[in-house]
Amino acid sequence: MNEQQWIAMDEYVCERTQTPDEALEAALKSSMDAGLPAISVAPNQGKLLQMLARLRGARRILELGTLGGYSTIWLARALPEDGTLLTLEAVEHHANVARRNIERAGLSGVVSVIVGNAVDTLEAFIRDGIPPFDFIFLDADKQTYPAYLRLVLRLSRPGTLIVADNVIRQGRVADAGSTDPDVIGVRTFFDMLAADAHVSSTAIQTVGSKGWDGFSISIVS
Ligand code: SAH
Ligand code: DHB
Ligand code: MG
Repeated sequence: MNEQQWIAMDEYVCERTQTPDEALEAALKSSMDAGLPAISVAPNQGKLLQMLARLRGARRILELGTLGGYSTIWLARALPEDGTLLTLEAVEHHANVARRNIERAGLSGVVSVIVGNAVDTLEAFIRDGIPPFDFIFLDADKQTYPAYLRLVLRLSRPGTLIVADNVIRQGRVADAGSTDPDVIGVRTFFDMLAADAHVSSTAIQTVGSKGWDGFSISIVS
């Protein structure tokens, strides 16, 4: 099997499970035109996030790592009209591109893009005692996943679903001797999940248009 076949298969399933969507396509195009890296979730992954949030009945969604807002749009569309999605982004330019994409998708009423280091923003949320989130998507810098997990658990309630992207990294995460800070971050993240009796987790490897990677899913109890 090779990457060309993975891509062809992704295209096949997307053609048969999704209808062309102007706002999502415009979000990818404008992100590319603005020089953002092509590291958004794949369309079929975005739809999975949306389905999970819908199954959860999510009214409050938290996202770490906005980029151009592509995954944000998928997730925000799972919300009821009076729902809320807060998405955290360190890079002002990314946030500006995302805000335009979210506006074009008609989702400005439910989405807030918050610029800053996600750790600082999460600490402020905790200090302010904001209500817990129903669904949390971790997709910012991988080396900080352990700190993100510790903080988002304090913004969770029993039943909160936590999905973390990029936890496979072409299989490098299985290498206990890795010195890659991203791999070490993800491995520590898994160690924390393993040690936490209040979290039930799984992780799924994926191949496709984004190469070999995968995501974890955790339910807080
Ligand atoms: N969720 C997006 C992709 C996010 S890419 C999608 O699938 O469409 C990761 C993003 O995290 C980048 O935009 C990067 O700037 C941002 N990021 C990296 N470190 C961060 C930090 N410390 N705080 C907040 N955002 C960060
Ligand atoms: C990278 C980040 C992502 O969120 C992703 O889905 C793929 C790659 C990266 O930083 O390389
Ligand atoms: Mg990602």
